[in-house]
Amino acid sequence: MTILDDPGQGGSREPGAGGGAEPGDQPTEGLAFDPRHFGIAPDEPWPDDVPRGQDDSHWRFEHDPGRARIAELRIAACWIVSLLASIGIAVVYVTGAQNQASGILWALAFLGIGVGLILWARDLLPGHDVIASRGRHDASDEGNRWAVAESFARGLEPIARRPFLFKLLGAVGGVFGIAALFPLASLGPRPDRNLYHTKWGRGVRAVTEDGRPLRPSDLPVNGILTVFPEGGMEDALAPTLLINLGDAPFEIPPSRTNWNIGGIVAFSKICTHAGCPAGLYNVQTHQLVCPCHQSTFDVLEDCKPVFGPAPRSLPQLPITTDTEGYIVARSDYTQPVGPGFWNRG
Ligand code: FES
Repeated sequence: MTILDDPGQGGSREPGAGGGAEPGDQPTEGLAFDPRHFGIAPDEPWPDDVPRGQDDSHWRFEHDPGRARIAELRIAACWIVSLLASIGIAVVYVTGAQNQASGILWALAFLGIGVGLILWARDLLPGHDVIASRGRHDASDEGNRWAVAESFARGLEPIARRPFLFKLLGAVGGVFGIAALFPLASLGPRPDRNLYHTKWGRGVRAVTEDGRPLRPSDLPVNGILTVFPEGGMEDALAPTLLINLGDAPFEIPPSRTNWNIGGIVAFSKICTHAGCPAGLYNVQTHQLVCPCHQSTFDVLEDCKPVFGPAPRSLPQLPITTDTEGYIVARSDYTQPVGPGFWNRG
């Protein structure tokens, strides 16, 4: 490491040569007092905007090995806490991922590393706070670049002097990194095409919440009912609204002329905005309203959104009746159900 301790270096820093400071203002102790630390080239006069007498090298326990040793132990203790917390994260995760315990351990792991690093920088590394010359507004000159390199070298030497802390930090980082990998297991399998399908399918009966199959006569005109695929009650994408529009004129694309049973139509209950149940039905206007952000769907017009943030119509489920007269699906939904996000890319 280069050590410059001759305050007279540079030739033009005579007392009063620009800043008007007294000779006693200039620091004469410390690791490396050099005008270049202040952005001043050795052959330049001392500028007015740079106070003299700045301490450009302070090192808290440089001359106190006893306290430096205590500081070292304090830092090691922080990192050992972090190390144990990281091991704890892995153990808690493997044994059932108890969320509160996980959170506390994550906090300890981060805090241990952070506090240890702060103590290391504060107590065992050299530092300097300086007010430097504003200088020119172009690329740093050689003097400044030299100062940065020299400052970096000054920081490395005390780190190399404490291999124990350095190795401990490596171990803490390694274990912490491994612990951080465990939650990746919670990401689960990729959904692949699952989000494009529901439990509805050809011949699957529509049943009520308590598993009762329905005949068209069970739904009076203007009646509305939430139904599920028989045997697929747990499917979050499957809830469907059966609505009896009576003889109200409703528009459907020509390709869907046989998707209804008389005036009974079936549409997904999952809002295409963010997936809330769009189940508020206005009998007068034949509109469905989603209570979350007030998207409004016109049932008479293929459930297209007429208000609110929903970007597309509620998908229609093709229905018919089976040989026993119960309402069944003709097939699964022919387009993805729910938020449009799943429909992109
Ligand atoms: S989730 Fe339905 S409007 Fe936002």
